[in-house]
Amino acid sequence: MAKLAVNGGPKCVEEPVRVQWPITDERDVEHMAEVVRAGRGGWCRLGLDDGEVSSFEREWAEYHDAKYCLAVNNGTVAIECALQGVGLRPGEEVIVPAITFVASASGVLMARGIPVFADVIPETCQIDPDDVERKITDRTRGVLVVHYAGYPVDMTRIKEVAEKHGLFVLEDSAHAQGSEWEGRKVGAIGDVGTFSFQGSKSLTCGEGGAIVTDRQDVYEACWAYHHIGRGLSAEKYEHETVGPNLRLSEVQGALLRTQLEKLPGQVEQRMATAAILAEGLKDIPGVEPLKPDERITGRGYYFYVLRFDEETWGCTKSTFIAAFGAEGSGRLGSGYGCTVYELPVFANNRYDATGYPVVEGEGHGRLVDYKDVHCPNAELVARHQHLTFSTHRLLNAEFAEQTLAVLRKLWENKGELRK
Ligand SMILES: Cc1ncc(COP(=O)(O)O)c(C=O)c1O
Repeated sequence: MAKLAVNGGPKCVEEPVRVQWPITDERDVEHMAEVVRAGRGGWCRLGLDDGEVSSFEREWAEYHDAKYCLAVNNGTVAIECALQGVGLRPGEEVIVPAITFVASASGVLMARGIPVFADVIPETCQIDPDDVERKITDRTRGVLVVHYAGYPVDMTRIKEVAEKHGLFVLEDSAHAQGSEWEGRKVGAIGDVGTFSFQGSKSLTCGEGGAIVTDRQDVYEACWAYHHIGRGLSAEKYEHETVGPNLRLSEVQGALLRTQLEKLPGQVEQRMATAAILAEGLKDIPGVEPLKPDERITGRGYYFYVLRFDEETWGCTKSTFIAAFGAEGSGRLGSGYGCTVYELPVFANNRYDATGYPVVEGEGHGRLVDYKDVHCPNAELVARHQHLTFSTHRLLNAEFAEQTLAVLRKLWENKGELRK
């Protein structure tokens, strides 16, 4: 008789751990009610130096030990704005990782730059600094790293490469609220860092984003861009440059502030559950967490990533995902499912109706055909190795026990997966 639930056997877990997200309490509700009732500035941040958005910016800067923070509408425009902040010019190349959410690359196109994909290191799923160096051309202006799944990129090596070649470093930290590299919060290590506060992130106000930097010139350029081209000291209608309106509202700022009070405790809780998982995984072959590194001194999470070895298990990743899901502890994901350059926007070279800036011609740079791009490690990881859980489940330690119980059961009955 079959033992595995996918083959008709009994489930390993009857009641899966459920974690409600976001976690809210009376403090959020009361603070929000105060802000709503007061209606200061029509809930617009402008002119409110002691308002919710300005206060959040100070608090988020302090959390990162950074000089400046600018709140914006979301993590995608945060990237576009940060690239304007570092002065990216049309047609300049920015090296980005092959595995990430599309915005890390499409944000470069939105800023009229050209994303160039670098491969990842399979053991960490992070951008490979050696491949970054290989991808540098005379048009390269910067490198955009992503602390994918909240696991910090090797910022020591990335900064070395960037300094050697005179490149800026943008840290897309959308996944990494609370992550640290050698004692410094990520996002504040390079020239500029960006965050997303969209609903699935570890700090959220529904939709929102932020930029942190120690560079005054970058902060001022970002401010002007996000404020329809008005500089910090501009008069009300004195528009000096072109820019959209990316300002965050006071209502969102209010929620971010009370949610931020809870973040450090939640980061600790996630790390504690992840440590239980990592310990248990030592006894289960063919599934391992991302490689431990003592330079990682803190870890926020977005995905919890497991590396699956098809050879050890004798079955494909999709067979494993189906078998895991049937055991009742919840679903396993596959991250974003493919490399970024395999997404239609890149694979079909469909940037916009003009093709700008990824076309030949004066000022536009050379022709880039993303169908020619191949990053072998990223393809291997995306297709065969990469398994993911949502970060929020790490907020309950029981999740680790249930997950390990399912993995042990699958390993004991792996013969059934090989049929
Ligand atoms: C790595 C990464 N960068 C940028 C973004 C964009 O953030 P937003 O959804 O707030 O625009 C996301 C969103 O999930 C992301 O995962």
